[in-house]
Amino acid sequence: MQYEFGMIGLGTMGRNLLLNLADHGEAVAGLDLDASKVELLKQEGTGKPVEGFTDAKAFMASLRTPRVVMMLVPAGPPVDKVIESLSPYLEKGDLVIDGGNSFFRDTERRFNELGAKGLAFFGIGVSGGEKGARFGPSMMAGGPAESYERMRPLLEKVAAKADDGEPCVALFGPGAAGHYVKMVHNGIEYALMQSIAEVYDLLRRQVGMNNPKMADIFEEWSTSEIGGFLLQITSTVLRKRDPETGLDLVDLVKDGAKSKGTGKWTSQDAMDLHVAVPSVDAAVSARDISALFDERHAAASILKPSEAKPPVLSNDQLKGALAVTMVAAYAQGMNQLRAAGTEYGYGIDVAKAAAVWRAGCIIRSELLGKITQAYRANAQLANLLVAPGLSDFVLQHLPGMRAVISGAVNAGIPVPALSASLSYVDGYGSSRLPANLIQAQRDFFGAHTYERLDQPGVFHTDWSES
Ligand code: 6PG
Repeated sequence: MQYEFGMIGLGTMGRNLLLNLADHGEAVAGLDLDASKVELLKQEGTGKPVEGFTDAKAFMASLRTPRVVMMLVPAGPPVDKVIESLSPYLEKGDLVIDGGNSFFRDTERRFNELGAKGLAFFGIGVSGGEKGARFGPSMMAGGPAESYERMRPLLEKVAAKADDGEPCVALFGPGAAGHYVKMVHNGIEYALMQSIAEVYDLLRRQVGMNNPKMADIFEEWSTSEIGGFLLQITSTVLRKRDPETGLDLVDLVKDGAKSKGTGKWTSQDAMDLHVAVPSVDAAVSARDISALFDERHAAASILKPSEAKPPVLSNDQLKGALAVTMVAAYAQGMNQLRAAGTEYGYGIDVAKAAAVWRAGCIIRSELLGKITQAYRANAQLANLLVAPGLSDFVLQHLPGMRAVISGAVNAGIPVPALSASLSYVDGYGSSRLPANLIQAQRDFFGAHTYERLDQPGVFHTDWSES
């Protein structure tokens, strides 16, 4: 039998995506050096057109030519290793897809390297975790349009479907456009996760609320106008008991967050593009501070916590803080996508990004329906914060957010993502910022010049003379 689609890397994502394809009638083959993963694929694929291999040669020989092969392996050197191991078997016309969370500059390099050998390469960001891969992920593709067209029917079949039935997969442009969109998706993911964690911290500390009660609140919010996957899983996580101790498992989890790099890359590249993504930056830094576990424990006895009582906040105020942060984080990500689209020649359509994030992916939320509409109505929209339908929503929740943040500040409870998001809104909404003073200081010590509000031109002043 000749298989239509090959997958290299049968970890959670690869195996589940392959089974998803098989559910849709595709004959598929998987390759992994780990025989137990191949066995698992065969077991889970019983009765479906699925085959597994541990040998690259046999795997490649089993695929119908020209071949379509996807890799779902950890980002970085493993991707190059897989490509190298495949090269003896690759023929002109074969299409190699990297479906992992690869850094977009690595993807650009691989396009060039494989292109030079006459081989077709493609990058797809796949979001949705295990369940998403199995039953419908959101996919962000980048590469030549003709390669995309080759895969489109397949991808549209297995992708998540938005409420209006549209498949959550799209081509975002040439080269690494797809991996870029996935990177920014993950940056937003970091910001949303951090802000949810901050609200959890406030709920927990303000009245010592227990986990089941918090779970109820997050569950209620998860079906509201800001509802989505991350709020849903938060509520489920808060209800989980540790089978060994009978305690709430979340309380036993060490409070040091790890990361694989996508959030950091989002921040780094946003800086290069001069696009402000402070909610993402704050979330990346917050993970880094959390990871200083021992240092924090030592510092806690020196930097004594505030004696002020945690604020008593209403659920609506807390939900409002989360709502504004979510809009701010999506707005920052969209602006980054648009700037990257121009700077790197991807031409990313931000309405399309919002649309493919409506279902299947980790950052999916009810808000993305409104956001898609906002960009479809006005592709040139400067910022989501001022979009009709969203600006009112933000304004409505701002007072609650201010109460949340001032209360947290007084009580010494860190709320980096919430406060960075509020400052983003306040900064963007200020007709006058203190940057005049910064310009004057720059001109003072470095003759960097400045512009004036009252006359055109570029000026320099000897500021030391009165
Ligand atoms: C997704 C997720 C997925 C992965 C994150 C985790 O969209 O399905 O983003 O890709 O879970 O990359 O990233 P960290 O390990 O950096 O938190």
